[in-house]
Amino acid sequence: MSDPATSNPLRIVVLISGSGTNLQALIDQIHQGDTPARIVAVISNRADAYGLQRAEQAGIAARILSHRDYNSREAYDIALQALIDEYRPGLIILAGFMRILSDDFVRHYQGRMINIHPSLLPRYKGLNTHQRALEAGDTEHGCSVHYVTPELDGGPIILQASVPIEASDTPESLAQKVHEQEHRIYPQVVDWIARDRVRLEDDSVLFDGSPISEQQRRYRAEN
Ligand code: GRF
Repeated sequence: MSDPATSNPLRIVVLISGSGTNLQALIDQIHQGDTPARIVAVISNRADAYGLQRAEQAGIAARILSHRDYNSREAYDIALQALIDEYRPGLIILAGFMRILSDDFVRHYQGRMINIHPSLLPRYKGLNTHQRALEAGDTEHGCSVHYVTPELDGGPIILQASVPIEASDTPESLAQKVHEQEHRIYPQVVDWIARDRVRLEDDSVLFDGSPISEQQRRYRAEN
C-alpha cells in the first residue's frame, strides 16, 4: 500500500471552524501554482463556518463533524481521526480550528500536522495575541507556522513573518496586518512540505535535510 505521507501529489485535509481565509489562500496557491498537493477534504466542527462554502466552491469535499454530538473531547477526537483518515492524508492543516486537541490525536499525526498562530511564538501562546502584544508595548508582532505537538502552540516552528507595530495600531488593525502575512507564509510552508523540502525529525525541523536556520525561519517576500 502506498504511504500517504510520500504520495504525489500530497493529500491534504484542512480543519477549520470559521471564515477560512487561510484555507482560501491555500486553495488559491494550489489551484494556480505548481505545488504538488491536493486538498482532499475540509472538515469543520461548526456547520456555519464560511470556509465550508469556500471548499464547496472549489469542488473540495466539505464535511461537518459537530463537537456537540460527542460528550467528551476524547470521543470527538476519535471520531474526527476516523473521518480524517478516510481521506488518507499526508498532511493535516489546522486553519482556525478552534479546538484543543487530545494528546492521542496529536500523537497520531505527529510530524504530519501543522498550525498557524497569530503571534511570533514562543511569545503569546493562546488567545488575544494582538491585544497582548499591544499591551506589552512590543514594536513588532506577527505569525508563526509550526508542527503540532501536545504542548499548545508549542511545537517546532517552521516559518514566521513579522509586522511592525505603529503607535496608531489597534487590535483590529494589527489582526488585519497579521492576517495578510498568514496568507503568505502558510502556502509557502505547504509548498515546501509538498516538495519534501521541510520535515520533522526527532522534534527538529529539517530544511533540505539540515536543521532549519533562524534565517530560513524568517519569511522574506523573495522566498
Ligand atoms: C488565524 O488568525 C489563525 O492565525 C488562527 O485562526 C485564524 C483563522 O483565520 N489560528 P481564518 O479562518 O483563516 O480567516
